[in-house]
Amino acid sequence: MRKTSDIIWQDAQHQVLFEILDLIGNTGSDSQVLFKLKDYTENHFALEELYMAQLDFPGRDAHIESHNRFREEIDQLLGQGEQLDDQFREIIGTYLTEWLTRHVFGIDKELEDFILQSDTR
Ligand SMILES: [Fe+2]
Ligand SMILES: [Fe+2]
Repeated sequence: MRKTSDIIWQDAQHQVLFEILDLIGNTGSDSQVLFKLKDYTENHFALEELYMAQLDFPGRDAHIESHNRFREEIDQLLGQGEQLDDQFREIIGTYLTEWLTRHVFGIDKELEDFILQSDTR
């Protein structure tokens, strides 16, 4: 398992997100997994955004914008729902995993450092 953060809730949630994305790439997974991804992503993003608001995090706007792009990607996929074939699913799974990896090890790290320096965890 890759460790993504020193903050327990953030790390645990990132792990779950990566696990869900792995499921998307699996052959035979149904569109329920996309709803699961949407739900879980929304919870996670909302929590990070709450921290950013409470701590008045300077990189907040760019970070929220980045979250919004991922939200849009998921909504677009949900719109195509049933038509996703196995090959497309695999491509999507890989694409979203790469996106999330960049986000988690980039912009989320900056937020993590900021939270760690504050007293709020
Ligand atoms: Fe984030
Ligand atoms: Fe995150």
